[in-house]
Amino acid sequence: MTETRSVVAGVGSFLPERILTNAELSTMVDTSDEWIRERTGITERRVAAEGETTSDISVKAAKAALDAAGMTGADIDLIVLATTTPDYTFPATATQVQAQLGAGGAAFDLQAVCSGFVFALATADNFLVRGQAQNALVIGAETITRLIDWEDRGTCVLFGDGAGAVVLSAREVEEDGPGILRTYIRSDGQFRTLLQTDGGPSATGTVGHLRMQGNQVFRHAVNKIAEAIETVIERAGVTAADIDWFVPHQANQRILDSVANKLGIPPERVVTTVATHGNTSAASVPLAMDVAVKDGRIKPGDLVLVEALGGGFTWGAALIRV
Ligand code: ACO
Repeated sequence: MTETRSVVAGVGSFLPERILTNAELSTMVDTSDEWIRERTGITERRVAAEGETTSDISVKAAKAALDAAGMTGADIDLIVLATTTPDYTFPATATQVQAQLGAGGAAFDLQAVCSGFVFALATADNFLVRGQAQNALVIGAETITRLIDWEDRGTCVLFGDGAGAVVLSAREVEEDGPGILRTYIRSDGQFRTLLQTDGGPSATGTVGHLRMQGNQVFRHAVNKIAEAIETVIERAGVTAADIDWFVPHQANQRILDSVANKLGIPPERVVTTVATHGNTSAASVPLAMDVAVKDGRIKPGDLVLVEALGGGFTWGAALIRV
């Protein structure tokens, strides 16, 4: 028996050139390379150049994903772009990307902070499976360093810029064939003030800075992520032992280790890029996926688990047979 599924046709990513090291940050705020590495696992992150926007880096990641899929922008009839740092308040950054790629159909932004890519994947999957689009670009892209208060050592050491993209195609496949098997997304607004910006178009007429109660976020992250993962695994009828690659949101090495440990996923099955990318918010999962596809770890037929938790709180997970 066959069914319609969203199949991963190509993955791509782009990182801005400028590297910001822990050593350089130590000259800006009262911190140290040792503290940052021990508490987060991060050694460096990228920062978008002046004038380099979220749409610029999205287009580069999208073109790489289209190349990998053997497609052009003209083949795309849906773009879902997850970002917290759009070029402008409106129109959606996705429409900018659509115009530059020459894509058709519909294009819109999706805002779920660090969980954005997982939410965008779930959204695009529903359009494809219901026959409302044929080929979708799911993009996670951030110039999140623009929201950083560079005097706040509790946050400025954590974040970095980048973009990742996945082309999904609606295809008729066998039950054991490729495609998105399950997605699960959740939000709980009672936690919204633990991770937020202190400005926005309607509230203050400004963009604001990122504010986070890091230890509170940490406290909730492991349990909520584990709940999402256990749900997708159970609903897909697989076990943790079946997962070939775990590609988590790259927030903090300690969170990744705790989640993998709680679920019994061995460290050699976990794709980690947090050391060199930092937390790139909505971009982190597709950026990490691209690294593991390019270096040959993720291969056709592999079962890949992705997850994320971000401001809101929002959180979720997805299981994909590539
Ligand atoms: N360098 C040196 N010291 C620091 C730094 C720094 N960069 N930042 C904080 N400290 C100090 C604090 O001031 C505090 O000092 P005190 O004890 O004198 O008050 C001490 O270190 C401990 O602070 P905590 O916040 O309790 O440190 P913790 O071990 O929790 O690590 C961190 C902080 C890395 C932020 C961690 O809490 C974390 O990663 N949280 C999760 C973040 C996350 O997952 N975000 C996900 C989503 S992001 C999004 O959605 C946009």
